[in-house]
This record gives sequence, structure tokens and C-alpha cells, in this order.
Amino acid sequence: MTIRGLAVMLLSMAMAADAGAAVTKAAFGKMPDGTAVDIYTLKSDALEVKVMTYGARIVAINTADKNGKVADVVLGYDKLSDYLADKKTYFGSIVGRYGNRIAHGEFKLDGKTYDVPKNDGGINSLHGGTVGFDQHVWTGKEVPGGVEMTLVSKDGDQGFPGTLTAHVRYTVHGRTLRIDYSESTDKDTVVNLTNHTYFNLGGVGSGTILDEEITINADRFTPTDKGLIPTGELAPVAGTPMDFRNATVIGKRIHADYEPLKLAGGYDHNWVLNGADGQLKLAAKVHDLKSGRVMTVQTTEPGVQFYTGNFLDGTFKSASGWPYAKNTALCLETQHFPDSPNHPSFPSTELKPGQTRHSTTTFTFTTQK
Ligand code: GLA
Repeated sequence: MTIRGLAVMLLSMAMAADAGAAVTKAAFGKMPDGTAVDIYTLKSDALEVKVMTYGARIVAINTADKNGKVADVVLGYDKLSDYLADKKTYFGSIVGRYGNRIAHGEFKLDGKTYDVPKNDGGINSLHGGTVGFDQHVWTGKEVPGGVEMTLVSKDGDQGFPGTLTAHVRYTVHGRTLRIDYSESTDKDTVVNLTNHTYFNLGGVGSGTILDEEITINADRFTPTDKGLIPTGELAPVAGTPMDFRNATVIGKRIHADYEPLKLAGGYDHNWVLNGADGQLKLAAKVHDLKSGRVMTVQTTEPGVQFYTGNFLDGTFKSASGWPYAKNTALCLETQHFPDSPNHPSFPSTELKPGQTRHSTTTFTFTTQK
């Protein structure tokens, strides 16, 4: 075969592999006011991802282990009413308009002070306020290999300035789930969207994530006060239990006598990713040694919040009755740093009219024997 023939063959193989997942849509339930909630299933040979319009949430990710046994690797429910009853966990949702915390629910923009809800212990603002993007029904539209979710958040929604239009596109390509975000506004505002999926690569019901190994591509993290607000420092991870530059079992140091871990009751911190902001780079890799499942997370965002489900307390349960208890899942929320509007030295979360903010995060599921 000629070089050109080989090139054409490889290209067509790559395109076939990226032919896009099959997409189907079904009804998932109705909101108390009668608004219909839909669920989309994106299916490739290796992955089946379910995403619903309430909160633009990932409801399930089914993928095989090293022996070919398929399991759902994300925490969630099988009924809309269970999602509506749970205002605490943010399972699978897009959090916004500002993911993670804003100190004292207050920030200044263009010289004006804005107040947003202090829905985190009455002290700070968390995940966009009392009624964040996780509690809205988004508009779903089928796109090749996936679904695009759209939400228009009105000027003044939860105290944030500007009408914000957010598009979050979920597509499946072979073993990869890709999330593309884009946001625009009609007034100066701040925005920090992320996806808040809880992963347990052993499968829902398999135990805690403390035996899983994680690698985080970061030399530094953002230490916090006791309310989990960054102090502003970018501290080196070297020599601390925050150093995941080499694959390390999560439970190995989680109970270490180390102030940041004690303040958060485990890992619940933002790591400063190595590599250029705006370019797709490795954020983290998780390996469940028992099932052999591996998840690789890449992002264009500058940070990732690694959260070990410290606030899960067993109140909420899976469809099969398994209690979602402490450390039964982990989150890798790719994002700008918490409380950026109050830290001019952090990468900016400001958005102006005429600009569109884009970001991409990918989750790739493979296995390792
Ligand atoms: C994020 C936060 C945590 C917690 C969870 C939701 O991960 O950093 O502190 O609020 O969301 O319970």
C-alpha cells in the first residue's frame, strides 16, 4: 500500500471511530409545575452515557471492567423525584453560575458590590446560590454524537449581573465523554461552570473510593481557610499529602495529621494544573485496581477540585438501596479557582458582552489488568 493509501485508510478508520455515538431521547418525568424533563442516551461501543435536562445532569455512565462486566460508575437515582428531593449533593449536575465558593457571598465588579446567596452554612456562597443551574430544566437539542443543553439565566438571577446564556454540549466518541462549555452575557459578569459528577470506578454499590489510585497533574494547590475559601496562596504540593504527581492510593494519606485535610474532612481542594490555561491537558487519572477501570480527565481549565465525597452521609441511597455514604465516590470538578472574583491574582472568571467563554473537559474510560 502507498503512503497516501495508508494515510487515507488511517484517516477513515479515525473518522469511523469518531462516527459519533447513537443518540436517543426519552421522557424522564415532570417538574412540580408540569415542565417535562427529558433524558438522552449517548451510546458508543464502549460507553453508554445518560444525560437529563434537569440540571443538565449526567445520570449514568455504563462501561466495562477489565473482565468485560458493565457497571454504572456514577452516583445518581433512577427517578426524577429523588433528584428533586436531594438539594445537597449536586449529583451529575452542571453547577453555576459560579461553581464552588464565593467568600461571604460578595464580590466587586466594575466598582460595584454584588451580593449572592450565602447558602453554604450561612457564611459563603456555594455552586451559584440557593437555586443554582443544577436546579433548572435546561433545553436539550440533539447534536451529532450527543446533546447540547442550553440555559438562559436572567440578569440578577441569584444576584449575579447580566443575562447569561450557557451551552453545555455532551458528546461521546468511542471511550471518551467530551463536555464543551460556552457562555456569553449582555453585561459584565463572572462565570465558572463545572460538572459535579460523583465517580466510583468500581461501580455504584462497590464500596468506597479509598482504595482507588489517583494522579493529579499539579505542582501546586490553593490552601483554604476553615470555610474552604482560598487564602490566595498557591502552595507547593511537594512533601505533603496533596502530592499526587505520582499515582497514589487515595486512602493512604487522607487521615494524615495535616491541617488542610482536617479542615475539609478529607480532600476537597482545588489543584493548580500544570500546563497552559486554555489548552487541553491532563488533569487527573483514576485507577480502580480491583475492576481495572481507569478514567483519564483532560481539561482546558486552570484548576480541578478533587472532592472525596466527605459530606455524603448515607441519607441518600441508590435505586437498589445502597447508602451513598462518606467516601463512596469522588468528584473531579474542572474549573477556575474557587472565589476567583475576590482574588485578582487568580485566572479571571470575568466575562464581558461580546465575548464568548469556551472550555472543554474530557473523561476517557479504559481498563488496565
Ligand atoms: C464541592 C465542594 C464541596 C461540597 C460539594 C457538594 O465539591 O467543594 O465542599 O460542597 O461540592 O456537596
